[in-house]
Amino acid sequence: MIELNIEIGKITLNNPTMLAAGIMGSAASSLRRIMSCGAGAVVTKSIGLLSREGHLGPVLAEVPGGYLNALGLPNMGLAFLDELETLSNDDDRKPIIVSLFGNCPDDFVELAETFCQYADALELNLSCPHAQGFGVEVGSDPAAVKAITNSVSKHVDIPVWVKLTPNVTDITVLGQAAEKGGADAVVAINTVKAMAIDVEGARPVLGNVFGGLSGSAIKPIAVKCVYDLYGALTIPVIGVGGISNYEDALEFIMAGARAVQIGSAVARNLSVFEDVAVGIDRYLSTKRLSFEDVVGIAHKSY
Ligand SMILES: Cc1cc2nc3c(=O)[nH]c(=O)nc-3n(C[C@H](O)[C@H](O)[C@H](O)COP(=O)(O)O)c2cc1C
Repeated sequence: MIELNIEIGKITLNNPTMLAAGIMGSAASSLRRIMSCGAGAVVTKSIGLLSREGHLGPVLAEVPGGYLNALGLPNMGLAFLDELETLSNDDDRKPIIVSLFGNCPDDFVELAETFCQYADALELNLSCPHAQGFGVEVGSDPAAVKAITNSVSKHVDIPVWVKLTPNVTDITVLGQAAEKGGADAVVAINTVKAMAIDVEGARPVLGNVFGGLSGSAIKPIAVKCVYDLYGALTIPVIGVGGISNYEDALEFIMAGARAVQIGSAVARNLSVFEDVAVGIDRYLSTKRLSFEDVVGIAHKSY
């Protein structure tokens, strides 16, 4: 297994890849499997205070270049604590990032205080595009982003990351709000609002009418967001959106990401984490560059 140690604030990963939030559900066994496949860290499904069933189906559809989903944040609520405790007790585990969602600072603080004992960092999901009252509905308001981030970071002593939405005119305004609120890093991007119509049925494909687009179709949008955030912030940026090989990951790193998360590509290739880490390592040794040399290098070529 490649050792390409990178640091994101207080957290060290043995390579710059992570499982993106929500991709493998909430079972400890699934997250353990991803760790054994070479991911440098895992992000859990987003967890709220109450368990939720999510939206009526269809909740997932394949479209050219990726997937449309409108799961509606199904999750087991506080019962997830048991799964997390099991996972956090593994001797050879990787860093665990717990993703949280809520609709006000108090919700986030309660969740953060509950889950921080078994987490290496928290990722605040202020960006889900298809759950009424949550996600992007709170996360597109810079004042709310700052207030939620500030409340959580005052109550926990582990790093707090904020996951941002691309469904706004200027993502850097949200990134700056997170930074002012005390975030230790930002994660960009969550899915892009999108929909598809079933022409035979003459109706929307998803039960929720619209959802979020993920996969290679959103990669150029995500790279632009990371590039802009790197230029506007001093805290680390973590890139996510459409990564399926090491060249994709390097694009994000050259745009300014210190690490990457991988979601949709896991459906087709469980080895994607190792493939990406090995590819980056080979690229760096061939070009005689360090990881640090490459972070944000695309900003220097203009
Ligand atoms: C089926 C599915 C479920 C997801 N669930 C969550 C979630 O619970 N919380 C979250 O912050 N993002 C969630 N996401 C968004 C991903 O973490 C990621 O930001 C997005 O899919 C873009 O990355 P990708 O193109 O590599 O999939 C989900 C995405 C998919 C496809």
